[in-house]
Amino acid sequence: MGRHPVVPDPAGRRHGRRLRAVRRRPALAGGPRPHPALRERYGRAAHPARAPRRGPARDRPDPRGHGRGRLPLRLRLRLAEGAPHVSPFRLTRTLPEDATDAALRADVLTGLTSTPKSLPPKWFYDARGSELFEEITALPEYYPTRAEREILAGRAGEIAAATGARTLVELGSGSSEKTRHLLDALTGLAAYVPVDVSVSALTGAGEAIAAERPDLHVHALLADFTDGLALPDTPGPRLVAFLGGTIGNLLPAERAAFLTSVRALLSSGDALLLGTDLVKDERVLVRAYDDAAGVTAAFDKNVLAVINRELGADFAPAAFDHVAVWDAEREWIEMRLRARTAQTVKIQALDLAVEFAAGEELRTEVSAKFRREGVRAELSAAGLDLTHWWTDGEGRFALSLSRVR
Ligand SMILES: C[S@@+](CC[C@H](N)C(=O)[O-])C[C@H]1O[C@@H](n2cnc3c(N)ncnc32)[C@H](O)[C@@H]1O
Repeated sequence: MGRHPVVPDPAGRRHGRRLRAVRRRPALAGGPRPHPALRERYGRAAHPARAPRRGPARDRPDPRGHGRGRLPLRLRLRLAEGAPHVSPFRLTRTLPEDATDAALRADVLTGLTSTPKSLPPKWFYDARGSELFEEITALPEYYPTRAEREILAGRAGEIAAATGARTLVELGSGSSEKTRHLLDALTGLAAYVPVDVSVSALTGAGEAIAAERPDLHVHALLADFTDGLALPDTPGPRLVAFLGGTIGNLLPAERAAFLTSVRALLSSGDALLLGTDLVKDERVLVRAYDDAAGVTAAFDKNVLAVINRELGADFAPAAFDHVAVWDAEREWIEMRLRARTAQTVKIQALDLAVEFAAGEELRTEVSAKFRREGVRAELSAAGLDLTHWWTDGEGRFALSLSRVR
């Protein structure tokens, strides 16, 4: 993997301090080059001869890393008038330019040649995947977002008092919608650092928050939170938030490595705010991942569209059914795509033909559900002590606060 840049401060100076790289994957062996006509993810230019249809402007990052073109008209006018008080929004890529291609190719090659077949869930989230996830959060069956919002709305003041955070780092920030409760409650906040692999989500949320909060330095990081996370040099204490139950998408060994890497980012006085979905009735869980309107099915199949576009594959999404299964032993939901018929899928960029038997399943996501003692134990194993535990009124979802031991 490549270099980790020094992130310039809001005034454009450089701190002269390298971002800390907490954990890195070994460099990937050089394989065949990515298909040149099929690269649009993360805003890179597609080959002009076969440029795919462009998404909305927010899918394309401003090369200066600002993105002022999408500020609300009111603020664009103030800028044109030379208004002095406009919050800086900065977007920094900490992934090396070719990391996405290399990582996607490696994950697809490994995952589709393994038995059983599987893919990591981070590849759902191109601009369309991020939009679909937002639609999921509004579904009647999908309780986690509402439950977590309820906790945040009720407890943000306590969280602010307990942490006194001056920097809020949010991992897998997505739309940052629920985060507004924290941003409002943290009265001494100087910086907000959303971290995500989705440039469209980061840009949309980062620009909106920067426009609403001119007092706040908003510094978005386009980064993989499982791979060498490094943070800009902003004032402490830091509160690292990891909401949405996204930690449940990591397998147990990945969770342990991830929590250890987060612990390494924290100093004394910093804290981790973790959202975890809780074990509950199987029917409620399965419905949350297999809604009647089929939005989760579309989200699930979006990973096939990403592979088609990025790697020149010929998956037919309609040839797969979305399935959600509760694994009672491991206490997690699995989302899978089940082949309707026997079929062969060609992946041009990998020079690979993948055979699916009729009924064969490709695992696309696990979503682990937790219990209080399990969360405490996993945090503790990473050197973090659980200090607060809050749940929504129905006990469906938990937010925990932990600190460096
Ligand atoms: C389940 S959504 C949660 C979004 C938001 N935090 C919420 O609570 O609604 C997961 C988010 O994490 C991002 N994400 C997934 N894997 C990631 C990774 N390895 N590194 C950085 N972001 C990731 C996705 O793009 C998405 O925005």
